[in-house]
Amino acid sequence: MLTRLHDGTRILIRPIRPADRAMLAAGHERLSPQTQHRRYLAAKPRLSSAELRYLTEVDGDDHVAYVAVLTDQPERLVAVGRYVRRADDPATAEVAITVGDELQGKGLGTRLGLLLADHARERGVKRFTATMLADNLPAQRLFTRLLWRLRTHSGAGVSELVGELAA
Ligand SMILES: CC(C)(COP(=O)(O)OP(=O)(O)OC[C@H]1O[C@@H](n2cnc3c(N)ncnc32)[C@H](O)[C@@H]1OP(=O)(O)O)[C@@H](O)C(=O)NCCC(=O)NCCS
Repeated sequence: MLTRLHDGTRILIRPIRPADRAMLAAGHERLSPQTQHRRYLAAKPRLSSAELRYLTEVDGDDHVAYVAVLTDQPERLVAVGRYVRRADDPATAEVAITVGDELQGKGLGTRLGLLLADHARERGVKRFTATMLADNLPAQRLFTRLLWRLRTHSGAGVSELVGELAA
């Protein structure tokens, strides 16, 4: 899917594939420490090979992930969005989105969220959960827009959100 951000940047969004491992590793290492921390809730300067395998070798049903790359630089990964269904409740999936620092605040996270929500709804997912730092305003705003009947549990600086996907 081709799209254009608020500032005109042209982006291609496509499903992740195993060959994206090196690109994902490089994209992760370009993130600021704050963005890495916001995504993984801990310091995370790099991803291990086991993590990279898990994050790129998805089955497209229980684990779904999309990458965003620059249209004119398709080897440059600028964002990732994924959801993973809960094994004990396949109608609920944990969602996580990361946008590179230079493109944050331009609508890309919202676009990935909407795409994941459409994909999930078509496959019987009814609700998304997401875990984030309690002071992560952009993530909270994104999920407030994306989900209905949002409930939040906060403690120890972390918020867990659960909300329904609109029919
Ligand atoms: C959270 C994140 C995915 C949002 O993606 P994004 O492309 O930056 O966000 P968008 O431009 O789509 O905007 C989403 C909402 O956040 C708001 N927002 C964006 N940047 C903001 C900022 N710096 N401060 C406050 N609000 C901000 C937008 O106004 C929008 O809210 P609105 O629709 O009510 O106006 C992105 O900032 C990110 O990767 N952060 C680090 C990793 C992370 O926190 N992941 C979430 C954990 S699951």
